[in-house]
Amino acid sequence: MAATDLYGYDVSLESAAAKESWRNLNLAFLSHGASTADHLGALLKAAPAFAIAEACRGLFSLLLGRRELIATAQEALAKAKEITASHGGDVRTNAYIAALEAYLAGQLAKSAAIFDTLLETHPRDAMAIKLGHAIKFILGDALGMRTSLEAVMPQFRGTNATDGYMHGCYAFALEETGDQRAAEIAGKHALDLVSDDAWGLHAVAHVYDMTARARDGVTWLESRTDAWAHCNNFRYHVYWHLALFYLDTGAHDEVLRLYDMEIRQDKTDDYRDISNAASLLSRLEIEGVDVGARWEELAALSEHRVDDGCAVFADLHYMLSLLGGERKAATEQLLHRMRRDANRNDGDMDRVADHPGLNAASGLVAFRDGNYTNAFANLSAARPAMQTVGGSHAQRDVFERITIEAAIRAGAFEEARTLVDERAAKRGGVDGYTASRGTLLDGLLTTPVAVAS
Ligand SMILES: [Fe+2]
Repeated sequence: MAATDLYGYDVSLESAAAKESWRNLNLAFLSHGASTADHLGALLKAAPAFAIAEACRGLFSLLLGRRELIATAQEALAKAKEITASHGGDVRTNAYIAALEAYLAGQLAKSAAIFDTLLETHPRDAMAIKLGHAIKFILGDALGMRTSLEAVMPQFRGTNATDGYMHGCYAFALEETGDQRAAEIAGKHALDLVSDDAWGLHAVAHVYDMTARARDGVTWLESRTDAWAHCNNFRYHVYWHLALFYLDTGAHDEVLRLYDMEIRQDKTDDYRDISNAASLLSRLEIEGVDVGARWEELAALSEHRVDDGCAVFADLHYMLSLLGGERKAATEQLLHRMRRDANRNDGDMDRVADHPGLNAASGLVAFRDGNYTNAFANLSAARPAMQTVGGSHAQRDVFERITIEAAIRAGAFEEARTLVDERAAKRGGVDGYTASRGTLLDGLLTTPVAVAS
């Protein structure tokens, strides 16, 4: 008789150790736990013929956005196919493998769609939901995240150990599609169900960011450290959110302290860690803060990542780092690689590299060179499609701020005012950035800046 897993679905696991490892792997991955890799290792050891574990190994590797891990994913795919060739594979197993294969082929949207199809027969598979959610996040497909979750949320009534994490995912999807009120409720409900739902906690932080409630955001994150103490490097991203709240209140010394003591406590070259850091230094510099030599270590690490080509979101943050560290040769190398990817036009990420990637990257170069007219032209051309570089509204806001700054420095005050207005309207509140640029532009223009309130 087939065993069933924590979702009540059949799995080809026999030993108690294998079943326990699969359960632990799911809970760790869903909570962004630092123990995820250990549980995966234990599962692969206890159940070497469990193809879903190999598919997870491949997908986890690809989600890290590192070129050297593509070989690991290919090897995992081969192993998973080998297992199903000799043992057979059910619908669920085949879906995980097909999703990995599509991702490896550069077809990320197809990979996420395969998980959506799986949910029609396996709507409680939180691992499949979370993987699809992660892939859509990389694609900037917020509506897709929300649609996927809305189809399955009636399954998650709080009776299963993983239900809370799904409410956390739903909160994030709601927030990214503009339903801030519902997102806050869903995120707090997620934490009521599972106290370590770091993604749900983080979704509520996004709500506070988008609704200009920086002080609420500080209180929220600083009073719930138990929800993210267990995390892998995702905790650096939560600290990044905390730093953004302090930045909004003008507490620049605290931002720099968080940068040094937490966000760059470990000098990793994970693209998400580099992105947190580069984004924060860029914002500080825009506010006129001297960040000292902090660009140097980011630039040194980014130099080794210019040929990765795994995510345009990563490329743009490597670009910020290289420009901040004045690595001209590596900057050119990165632009060249992005052009090559765009011309190849093979897969979802190549199309993003073509547009808006190249315009955005060229705009960042021009901005650092002080050619603000050119920077504004390029960043404006990229702007309507910037959601496709992936990440969140809060993350992409660094490009929005640089675009506004380029407009102001280029003397395009009316255009800058339009951008400030649009940014404020989207955010549903007047944050420190909107207020300061509004005041500045009021002085530069004869008519007052209208901002959302
Ligand atoms: Fe975030």
